Amino acid sequence: MTTPQFYQLHDSSSPAVLHAIRNELTTGLLAARAAVSPKYLYDALGSRLFDAITELPEYYPTRTEGAIVKQHLPHLAQQIPKGAALIDLGAGSCEKAEKLFDALQPAHYIPIDISVDYLRNTLYRLQRQYPMTRMSGVGLDFSAELTLPPELLSLISGLPIVVFYPGSSIGNFSPDDARALLARVQALCAQGAAGSGLLIGVDLTKASEILEPAYDDALGVTASFNLNMLLNINHLIGTDFDPQDWQHVAFFDAKLSRIEMHLQAKEEVTVNWPGHSRNFKRGEAIHTENSYKWTVPGFAQLLQSAGFAAPTSYMDAKDWFSVHWALASA
Ligand code: AVJ
Repeated sequence: MTTPQFYQLHDSSSPAVLHAIRNELTTGLLAARAAVSPKYLYDALGSRLFDAITELPEYYPTRTEGAIVKQHLPHLAQQIPKGAALIDLGAGSCEKAEKLFDALQPAHYIPIDISVDYLRNTLYRLQRQYPMTRMSGVGLDFSAELTLPPELLSLISGLPIVVFYPGSSIGNFSPDDARALLARVQALCAQGAAGSGLLIGVDLTKASEILEPAYDDALGVTASFNLNMLLNINHLIGTDFDPQDWQHVAFFDAKLSRIEMHLQAKEEVTVNWPGHSRNFKRGEAIHTENSYKWTVPGFAQLLQSAGFAAPTSYMDAKDWFSVHWALASA
């Protein structure tokens, strides 16, 4: 019986990483236009709130992507090589990748997440269900670097590499940053055998009447998700944010084709943390997330500018969401 292997390349409790986090948050909070990276939305509670968001009637991306993959699985399976190393970016609970297993029969499943601890239990369960697939969990901040441990690379040498990046997580990156990340994915795929490529889910531009409620739902779950970032920052750097002083704001900027999320001060407030303080006027805001929305031709262009071949693109009937399979080389 094979047993999963685990590699932790990112130690979020190391003094060096904690120091970098403190610097990054302090710089962001002191900036004229205060901003904090959306990665700080995902502490333990934030991850659960995000899972709840995916169940909301207004938040269409998760279920629409699932329906597209389900509908086109037979066609996808004809294009995507079987017996591949399946690399799952931001895997979390691994449930989206699991739905591909029967069709794609990966030889080796490699979920990557910021913390390998999120992957442990799931991978032990999955390994029992799919004893023929080798499994290796990797703890890595792939937005900063995308290099696998040499030991793992040699285990998958000779296999096609299929990178799976679902959920429109690419939407958090500006077009330039998205291109840079996709180019790193392409470089990884290019190390694999013929047929290697990327399977990616991307949310599409649409009427703001549909987009905005998806990021400002009636139950206030997205508001809680956004406000929870303040509790996470309090925990990380000792700020004295009171979530009651802030409100969730989300809007679609059609010119930049992105949803912006902000936390806006309800009244003037001063935030203090060791060595620093920052005054926010009433209505002043902290920018917490961008979620870019693409067109199908626009995203196909982006993939090609990152070195991929022209993709095969799949959409739902309303063209709300897209799933693309792109070979690493023509
Ligand atoms: C996880 C980045 C894909 O942008 O839709 C959901 C995050 N933010 N609701 C998205 C999110 C607010 C989500 N991504």
